[in-house]
Amino acid sequence: MAPKLLITGATGLLGSHLLRASQEWWHPVGTYHRTTRRQALSFFGKIDHGRIDLGDYSETKAMVADVQPAAVIHTAAITDLDYCERYPDESLRINLNAATDLAALCGDKDIPFLFTSADLVFDGAGAPYAEDDPPTPINVFGEHRALAEEGIIAAYEDAVIARLPLLIGYGSPGRESFYYKLVSSFRRGQEVTLFGDAIRSPVSAAVAAQGLLKIAGSGFEDDVNIAETERVVGRIHLGGRDQISLFELGQLTLRILGLQEQLAVPVSVLDSYAGLLQTTFLAARSANVTLDSSRAYELGYDPPPLPSQLEELLPPAWRVQADVLEDDESDPEAAELDEGT
Ligand SMILES: NC(=O)c1ccc[n+]([C@@H]2O[C@H](COP(=O)([O-])OP(=O)(O)OC[C@H]3O[C@@H](n4cnc5c(N)ncnc54)[C@H](OP(=O)(O)O)[C@@H]3O)[C@@H](O)[C@H]2O)c1
Repeated sequence: MAPKLLITGATGLLGSHLLRASQEWWHPVGTYHRTTRRQALSFFGKIDHGRIDLGDYSETKAMVADVQPAAVIHTAAITDLDYCERYPDESLRINLNAATDLAALCGDKDIPFLFTSADLVFDGAGAPYAEDDPPTPINVFGEHRALAEEGIIAAYEDAVIARLPLLIGYGSPGRESFYYKLVSSFRRGQEVTLFGDAIRSPVSAAVAAQGLLKIAGSGFEDDVNIAETERVVGRIHLGGRDQISLFELGQLTLRILGLQEQLAVPVSVLDSYAGLLQTTFLAARSANVTLDSSRAYELGYDPPPLPSQLEELLPPAWRVQADVLEDDESDPEAAELDEGT
């Protein structure tokens, strides 16, 4: 029987891709929190799952004892930067305390524990960032991710801290990811303002999931049948090979969709500090947080070029011929989007 892989946050953008991709080798068990039981039943189908508030230590401990996982990938988090800024205690409870508690429980059993941290632990002034660059967070979300990294390594030195870049993709039904909102706005002919100086090294959620599964399977042999390598531990970056601003990401998306590139409107992260944007961002936004991911590349993580990842996400049926657009007028109300995490 396949070993059990506990995936927290399995209804999220990353967790839902992990859940799908892991089934080839693992027996996945997913957790969720606010998703209703009815939604969960239709989303998980026959896959084992459970509702839990990971901020409650006794619930978490009981779940680990019950599931008895062979490995854990912890993706559950509060990922809305402005929400974390507004409710720092809630961010602390989930983004910091829940993560260190779960790491300690995995440490007691010496099972692989992968924490999904973010490029946003950095301020954007020293890119590209290597694994041993010290975190320099500039908002509550980044601060709690950085403190969680420290707390996890203190609790369990063989834990994995996988820092992820901006993830492109669509979450489970009803959840609107950054890219979903971007593509939907463009397809409605709506202009979108995007940071031209927020540089990222994005990958699709599907590619990131494959990278995480490769690490989770490292050290296992016949059981998981993924890797005969030594178990990967410590900090590791899972960035893509392309460095691109959010504005350029918008332009690239428009080119693939066959839409007018003017629908992407560049603004600066500095404008968000100066209050020049329509939207008020509570949390400071980082400029260039591209990740140096050479450690992961050497271990076999091999993200395809970004354009081909986007092509996979933008089905031919969504692409428009130039003549269809001739009479199209863009929506004068521009949407403002940034990536969240
Ligand atoms: N998305 C990105 O671009 C990005 C970039 C860098 C790093 N990351 C990291 O990747 C991880 C996953 O991000 P994501 O974008 O996939 O997140 P997401 O779509 O916002 O999903 C978050 C998940 O966490 C669950 N959750 C929230 N609060 C919980 C609680 N109190 N107890 C248990 N579960 C709870 C949610 O369950 P319910 O929905 O049922 O409440 C959901 O399944 C995070 O650690 C994030 O820092 C993401």
